[in-house]
Formats: sequence, C-alpha cells, structure tokens
Amino acid sequence: MEDLSAIILAAGEGKRMKSKMSKVLHKICGKALVEWVYGSVQNAGIQDCIVVVGHKAEEVMEYMGDKVRFALQKEQLGTGHAVMQAQPMLENKQGYVIVLYGDTPLIKGETIKKALDYHIQNGNAATIITTELEDATGYGRIIRDAQGNVVKIIEHRDANEQERAIKEVNPGVYCFTIKHLLDALGKINNNNSQGEYYLTDTIEILINEKFKVGALKIDDSNELSGINNRIQLSQAEKVMQQRILSKHMENGVTIIDPSNTYIQADVEIEMDTIIYPGCIIEGNTRIGEGCTIGPNSRIISSTIEKNVEVQNSVVIESHVSEDTHVGPFAYIRPESRIGRNVKIGDFVEIKKSVIGDNTKVSHLTYIGDAEVGKNVNMGCGTVTVNYDGQRKHKTVIGDNTFVGCNVNLVAPVTVNKNAYIAAGSTITDEVPEGSLAIARERQVVKEGWVEKRGRVHK
Ligand code: UD1
Ligand code: CA
Repeated sequence: MEDLSAIILAAGEGKRMKSKMSKVLHKICGKALVEWVYGSVQNAGIQDCIVVVGHKAEEVMEYMGDKVRFALQKEQLGTGHAVMQAQPMLENKQGYVIVLYGDTPLIKGETIKKALDYHIQNGNAATIITTELEDATGYGRIIRDAQGNVVKIIEHRDANEQERAIKEVNPGVYCFTIKHLLDALGKINNNNSQGEYYLTDTIEILINEKFKVGALKIDDSNELSGINNRIQLSQAEKVMQQRILSKHMENGVTIIDPSNTYIQADVEIEMDTIIYPGCIIEGNTRIGEGCTIGPNSRIISSTIEKNVEVQNSVVIESHVSEDTHVGPFAYIRPESRIGRNVKIGDFVEIKKSVIGDNTKVSHLTYIGDAEVGKNVNMGCGTVTVNYDGQRKHKTVIGDNTFVGCNVNLVAPVTVNKNAYIAAGSTITDEVPEGSLAIARERQVVKEGWVEKRGRVHK
C-alpha cells in the first residue's frame, strides 16, 4: 500500500502576532491553530502526521502530545528548509505527502481529500491548491503561462508590480509524490529577498524538470486564510464559530441569536435544546435534550442532563442532572454534582458539593465542601462555614432535612436525616436524626421601652 503522510509547518515565530506564545498555539473556538489543521488532516483520512517545530518547540510539542511525530527546525530558514527537517522521516516511504502551514486553521478535511484525489488521479508530481483574493497582499502569487499552465509561485516580496496585480494566490496547501518532493528539496536555494529556502520554489523546479504539476482552484477563499495577526485571528474565530453553530442548528438545536452565542469546538448538544443570546459554552461540555440555556450563561466542561434550565448562571466542571433549574444568577463551581429536579436559585454558590435529588437551594446560599441529601430544603441565606482559616472541612446534611433561613453550619459537622434546624442557628455539633436543633439567643422583649426612652414618634 502507498504511504500517506502530512507535514504541518509550525516552527515560525509569528512576529506579527506580538505575542510571547508561538503563533500556532493561539486559539480559535477553544483549539490551537495547529490543532485545527491537524484535525482536518485526520478528517482527510491521513494517520501519519509530522509537525515541524522550532520557535517555542517544547510548548508546541507539549500541546500536541504523542498523537503526531515531531521534526525540529533549529533555525527558521524558510518553509522549504522546514520541510527538509522532516525529510529523514519520509525517506523509506512510497506514496504521497500533504504539506500545510500551521497558521491556516480553516482548511477543511474534505478539501485536503479533494486535492489528494486530484493529485493521485492525474499522476502529478505536485499539486497546489489556489484561490483568488481581492486583497492578495502578503501571499505568494500563482504565475501561469499563456495556456493557463502554472509556471511558478512568486512571493509577494519578490514580485514586481505586474505580478502583484495577480489575484490568484498560494494559500500554502500542497500535495507531493514523496520521491519528487525529496528530489526537488535538494535543489532549492535561498537566492531571494528574504534569504530563505522557499518551499514554493519546488513547484518551479518540478515544472522545469517536466514533471506534471497540477493546480486545484478553490472558490471559498475563506477556508484558506492564513493567520498572521490578531485581526485575522478574530476573523477566523468568526468563520469557525459560524461553522460550529450551523452544525448544532442542523442537529436540531435552536440558537436564537448566532451572532451573540459562543460555543467551542468540542461541545455536544442534543436536540430541542434552546440557547438564548449571550451564552458561552466551552470545553468538553455535554448538554442533553430539551434544555433551556441562557440568556447570558457560561458553561465550562460540564455535563448538563436533559430538560435542565440554566438562566444567567455560571457552571464550571460540574454535573447537573435532569429536570433541574439553575439560576438566575447562580454560580456552580468545579467538582459539584447536582441531582435531579433540584432548584438552585438566585445568588447561590455551590462549590465541590453533592446536592441530592429534589432538594431546593432557592436563594442567597453558599454550599461548599458539602454532601446534601435528597428532599432537603436549604433556607435563604444559609452558609456552610467550611474554612477555618487554614483548612477546608466537610458538611453532611441527611435526606429530608429542613434547614431554616440564615443558618451557619460550622464544618466539620453532620446533620442527620429528617432533622429540622431553626432559622438563625449556628450549628457546631452533630444534629441527631429526626430532631430539632436551635442554636441562637432567646429573644428578650422589654415592654414600653420606647416610651420610657422618650423616643415615640409624634
Ligand atoms: C507562505 C508562502 C506564501 C503563501 C503564504 C500563505 C512560502 C515561501 N511562502 O508565506 O506563498 O501565500 O504562506 O499563508 O512558503 N514556518 C516554519 N519554518 C520557517 C518558516 C515558516 O515552520 O522557517 C512555518 C510557520 O510557522 C507558518 C508557515 O510555515 O506556520 C508559513 O510561514 P509564514 O512565515 O507565515 O509564511 P508566509 O510569509 O505567510
Ligand atoms: Ca503566513
């Protein structure tokens, strides 16, 4: 069988980003640019992927992990030089290699596949993708002869005025038959305005040696934009966001205002869920059927089961079970697990706690490091006093307990099931099953006190 590999160039610094981070690690819709390119390579059915790293190599390698192979380009001497660094990894291979740039995240797997099929069917030595841009500034231009055949690619900086007027550009996606790439790489030089080894020169070399070079023109130039600065980064974010939202809408999710909704790449949402404006849904969040999310909610890496309502709230790394209501204005912090048919109301904060089925925490309550049972009623203004200034302690509240308003539960403390706690109590000791605990000052009434003090309002 013939080998199929991809090389993603990701060694450049990306000066125009003005960043301490490698350009290819900047993210759109929650994923680094280079990871998007890798995803499309995978979608095109290519398993073997080599990433050429250089500037901030360790960071790029750590991000990509062991799903790809790495070639190190110590000095960034150009895109052709970058591909040379991957040469030893291709030497025993027969077949084809796709070369892409790590700063072109919008390319689709199907486009890579199309280019590869075209390349193979035509028996080409190399195939380039091209597209037309209104503003081609910065891109390499495609030079064709009178018959329309590609002759070479000329870089913007090396181009004369006439060549710069050409709108057909090189977006930087190439298919090569491996042996021809290796042959051509050996022949490129750095005689150009930047003193770099250009990958684009391999095209002219192969044409001059009378090998067949094809060009596949793609209409949707959006897909092929390279990212060199933060303005282009935000434009790519928009295009990718639109794709993600369209996918969810096609799957039966209602998104009321797509221009005002942000959903990252790995989020999954089931049908008949409605997303109101102002929502930001991130990480590996899963949302079940028939939920109402928003307006203005942020959900990060959480599981939301079916028929849940989350209004104007924040949910982070937590699990919310079916038929539960959250918000408005609730804050569910990491490692929380909320049961079924629970009510988490306004100005409630839950942190690293379990809340049992059918429990109500309706308003103005803080629950941290706690295990709350089923059918519990937490009164307004209740606080688990979980921090002694040095360490965190646990609160346990049994099933069917009624906790009155404005109660402090000083942890570590246990309230056993079926208990009642009087409003305003500060509970420091274990409350036995089925008992009432009152822990507050008795009320004192001084009859006629106001008049004696002469404070009667006339
Ligand atoms: C390149 C193309 C240009 C094309 C444009 C499309 C060349 C010579 N030019 O120009 O024809 O229109 O992309 O966006 O190929 N890189 C390395 N090592 C290096 C240099 C670059 O790995 O030594 C990587 C960068 O990390 C980046 C990619 O290659 O991901 C492209 O490099 P960049 O400097 O952005 O090339 P352009 O000038 O945009
Ligand atoms: Ca570029």
